[in-house]
Amino acid sequence: MTSQRIYLDYNATTPVDPRVLEIMLPYFTEVFGNAASNDHEFGLEAKRAVDKARAQVAALINASPNEIIFTSGATESDNIALLGVAEKYAGKGDHIITCVTEHKAVLDPCQRLEKLGKRVTYLPVDQYGLVDPDAVRRAITPRTILISIMAANNEIGTLAPLAEIGAIAREHGVLFHSDAAQAFGHVQVDVQAMHIDLLSISAHKVYGPKGIGALYRRRSNPRVLLEPIFYGGGHEKGIRSGTLNTPGIVGLGAAAALAQKEMAAEDMRFRAWTEAMLACLQAELGDVERNGHPTQRLPHTLNVSIPGVESRALIVQLPDVAIATGSACTSASVAPSHVIMALGYPLARAHGSVRISVGRNTADACIWLATGRIIAATNHLRTLAANREFSGVTA
Ligand SMILES: Cc1ncc(COP(=O)(O)O)c(C=O)c1O
Repeated sequence: MTSQRIYLDYNATTPVDPRVLEIMLPYFTEVFGNAASNDHEFGLEAKRAVDKARAQVAALINASPNEIIFTSGATESDNIALLGVAEKYAGKGDHIITCVTEHKAVLDPCQRLEKLGKRVTYLPVDQYGLVDPDAVRRAITPRTILISIMAANNEIGTLAPLAEIGAIAREHGVLFHSDAAQAFGHVQVDVQAMHIDLLSISAHKVYGPKGIGALYRRRSNPRVLLEPIFYGGGHEKGIRSGTLNTPGIVGLGAAAALAQKEMAAEDMRFRAWTEAMLACLQAELGDVERNGHPTQRLPHTLNVSIPGVESRALIVQLPDVAIATGSACTSASVAPSHVIMALGYPLARAHGSVRISVGRNTADACIWLATGRIIAATNHLRTLAANREFSGVTA
């Protein structure tokens, strides 16, 4: 008999909300026109759907619809923001500030820019994963053109002090980009209040489809210019050429509209679950440590290290509970998480870290079933280790 599978990896991806899917479906078959074909009604009806989605995405971040550029996801948005600013503003400067706990979608383009002769400052974080806004201020030089700090960390859920960093960027006339792949639709992101000039968005982290996302690009005060990273038909104001993915865009818009309605209630529900899970793990297993900020965090994300237990070994014991070690995108590698290492803890804590993330389809019973299974698996591993020690086997 197989046991019930429990999905607790919503930071990696979310299922498409059935309400989102229903809205998307006609755009695969009936409303199939090319949104750039303005000569007939087929194209125009697709364009109207895209315009609606543009407004829905913009509304969630307090932007204007004409500031939304549709892309294939946050990876592409990050690349356009970093590479696009670096090239367009090369005459102004060559220095970028980011931080060590960013996702690869930011770190890798930064490394590419370094190869091209740009300079990148990678700021450290404190034990909670927070970047110090004063460190950002101190890192700015007359050659700095961009600050890129993620809104929410994908492994530990820590939320960056975006408003403070944005104010510093604005004060110094430096553009501010934030990777909001994990934050969009989960916590409030306001591009005006936070002085954000570029924001990366992904649909599949917020109950929309995979392969679609957006880049918010400020159009005034200041008007942000971007060099595209590839060229073609000049779609999306010339910044992202390629026929628009109408069903995906409609799905992203619908997901944004739903998130706007449900975010507050989900915040309370998810925060209560993750806190209760942590308390239960600590009560049953001893000194389980939380990785990340206790309050300034994504409500649905809990990252813990269980002393004496390697996360890989734990996951092998839990074939029916989907939790993650490190970030999903790098989970094929066994290197310790660069995020947990950046918090300044010993290597063992990084090797012992697991990320548990709840979501819209999680039921109360799943939380307790999964917690029970994690506790049982940990006790089993600890017994094995104790027996090995007793019999003198060390390897
Ligand atoms: C913080 C962060 N940035 C970027 C990405 C990549 O997003 P996408 O899958 O939309 O390209 C992810 C996904 O794991 C992420 O968590």
